[in-house]
Amino acid sequence: MRIAISTGGGDAPGLNAVIRAAALSAIGRGWEVIGIRKGFGGLLGEDQCVTLTRESVRGIAHLGGTILRTTNRGNPFHYPIRQPDGSFVDTDRSAELMASARNLGIDAIITIGGDGTLAIAQRLHECGMRIIGVPKTIDNDVSGTLTTFGFDTAVNTALEAIDKLHTTAESHDRVIVLEVMGRHSGFIALHSGLAGTADVILIPEIPYDIRKVCDKIVERDGLGRHFSIVVVAEGAFPRGGHESVMGGSLPGEAKRVGGIADAVAREIQMITNKETRSLVLGHLQRGGQPTGYDRLLATRFGGAAVRAVEDQRWGHMVALQSPHIVTIPISEALREPKRVEPTHDTVLTARATGISFGD
Ligand code: F6P
Repeated sequence: MRIAISTGGGDAPGLNAVIRAAALSAIGRGWEVIGIRKGFGGLLGEDQCVTLTRESVRGIAHLGGTILRTTNRGNPFHYPIRQPDGSFVDTDRSAELMASARNLGIDAIITIGGDGTLAIAQRLHECGMRIIGVPKTIDNDVSGTLTTFGFDTAVNTALEAIDKLHTTAESHDRVIVLEVMGRHSGFIALHSGLAGTADVILIPEIPYDIRKVCDKIVERDGLGRHFSIVVVAEGAFPRGGHESVMGGSLPGEAKRVGGIADAVAREIQMITNKETRSLVLGHLQRGGQPTGYDRLLATRFGGAAVRAVEDQRWGHMVALQSPHIVTIPISEALREPKRVEPTHDTVLTARATGISFGD
């Protein structure tokens, strides 16, 4: 048996722990393990495929990033190919990828990625590829699994920032607006904001009214709390408005959301007359060592993925349905993205403890 492992899309703390656990579980069964570098690029001549041994996966579980590298511009069904005139043509290279896997004698692929990579896995599965998915994203927006690895680390990074912002905001009687990642979901903002006792949390699932945001800040001022912390998810948007999109996407890249913190801060300062600052936490949330929780979950996912290969659960992904790791069809997980439920107890408790959602 020869299996291959790939990591696709944006990186997330815990990828190396999955690679290590999957490789060791496979090697322990007497299987050979190939690492496909740079998403599926190693099968498309854009990078290499390398043999993974006990030695090559030694001492990596605690490291952020991915030893296999990754890309969010490598969809084999929509591969951007540069033309002599500099323009790009969207090309289907899936047949080439399948042929390349066959030539390398790859019996099955374990692919680790978020919704984009899992959608590619589903299509490859429909083309006949024997594939198992492992859900990964700091955004926690994949359905069918209680959580994805990387999310806990991102929340802790945001939490550390909120703790630090509290002290400086209080010293200066300022409002500070912190933008966190999450794309179209507000999990990172909600979890870090509630744990960090923010005053306002803005998430895409609850469109905000800037006047309500300012009411909260002014109310705090009246109570002698002259500073406020606003945590805004990058995909949040005002009621009746739309999310803030950053320009400059490259061919093959999904549209990038973000830049909302600055707009929110400017409006708050204008309406309340309070000194307001903003910052974007950005890719700090994607880097660094995975937390113990993420390392453990990633390791469990890696081991379970190899068991799924053994059980020939093709087209399935591993998922956490506490207390067990199960497998579910990738198509089921992709049916609907996971979003914060506005009636979830986390939101209710946030409201009960005085946090405003600007609604
Ligand atoms: O999906 C993970 C994520 O970090 C999102 O939260 C964010 O919007 C996006 O990826 C950023 O992508 P990139 O690394 O391409 O800027």
